[in-house]
Amino acid sequence: MRSVETFRDLQAEVASWRRYLHENPELDYRLDNTAAFVAEKLASFGINHIETGIAKTGIVALIQGEGGEGPTIGLRADMDALPIIEASNKPWSSKTPGKMHACGHDGHTAMLLGAAKYLASTRRFKGSVALIFQPAEEDGGGDRLGGEKMIEAGIMERFGISRVFGLHTAPGIDVGKFGICHGPILAAQDDFEIIVKGKGGHASKPHDTIDPVVIAAQIILGLQTLVSRRTNPIDALVISVTKFNAAQAFNVIPDRVEMGGTVRTLVPTLRDFAERQILATAQGIAAAFGAEVDYNYQRFVPVTVNHAKETDLAVTAARNLVGQSSVDDKLKVRMGGEDFAYMLEARPGAFMFIGNGPTAGVHHPTFDFNDEALPYGIGYWVNLVDTALGS
Ligand code: NI
Repeated sequence: MRSVETFRDLQAEVASWRRYLHENPELDYRLDNTAAFVAEKLASFGINHIETGIAKTGIVALIQGEGGEGPTIGLRADMDALPIIEASNKPWSSKTPGKMHACGHDGHTAMLLGAAKYLASTRRFKGSVALIFQPAEEDGGGDRLGGEKMIEAGIMERFGISRVFGLHTAPGIDVGKFGICHGPILAAQDDFEIIVKGKGGHASKPHDTIDPVVIAAQIILGLQTLVSRRTNPIDALVISVTKFNAAQAFNVIPDRVEMGGTVRTLVPTLRDFAERQILATAQGIAAAFGAEVDYNYQRFVPVTVNHAKETDLAVTAARNLVGQSSVDDKLKVRMGGEDFAYMLEARPGAFMFIGNGPTAGVHHPTFDFNDEALPYGIGYWVNLVDTALGS
């Protein structure tokens, strides 16, 4: 097992990669430059089994250990950026207005490359390490997300991966610290749309209309009542209405209101409940006032569930790097979503958070991955390989 000092020598070089990726963000599956950069680095480390073009721009590379036969574990990084106008004012800010690495995927990619360089030069483990670089974690550009597409492409079978691990930056956790929990760590994320169809007219004559704005307002409150009165307070359910489009004039009652939002849950029964009861609530309220609704519910990503043994492995690997007290193994579950959930449905594994310090939150225009965290992330990956495949 190695302490973080072992990896400080790599920090400057890996930071230069991270900043290059940060300056050149790409979205969803359209990661041609990013994927070419990753593949070129992997080849330069002497890794000779590199497969590109998986799920369009995904990459899997295999490093064989020199410790003999053993299983293959997968280490996963995501590579895509977000459609955000950067405001970090860093010298390495995005060169493409409207695209930005605001979720640290530049750091995730750089840390896994750093670990790849170290592991390829040492190879002191049994079996193999599969380095998984996936596209489209944030958005599929109209298609399903990259994590699901990589699974559909058969990477677990093709590369013989028996366990899989993910690592994500966490603003608010100190640099040099880690956080994880057993079981659900991130929520299922679904989207819904409701169209309330009433009857428009002049705003001075509401009695001649079926006003979809007032009906939609009652539906919004009804949905919050599903959370507060119909759901056990011990169980987590988030319903947020985030989109609301009505008339564009002061004196017009529109024919229809289009609204939409997101649902976050941790258990399948509550997910089913939300899908069913959002419709029943909207229909019931609309019917009471003579309106109708159209409804569309999209299941986006499932719950990210950490497996028990692999979570213990991840905790051990991190504690061997930074000490017992710097790894919180009882992190509170977060209601964000992650498409790594698909990989954890396919194979046992664990998703770990790595501290980014007191920076802006992810998806904020001033967020930047903290390069001081790089040696910790690299060290975590290397220690994880030691823990899982050590001789
Ligand atoms: Ni992310």
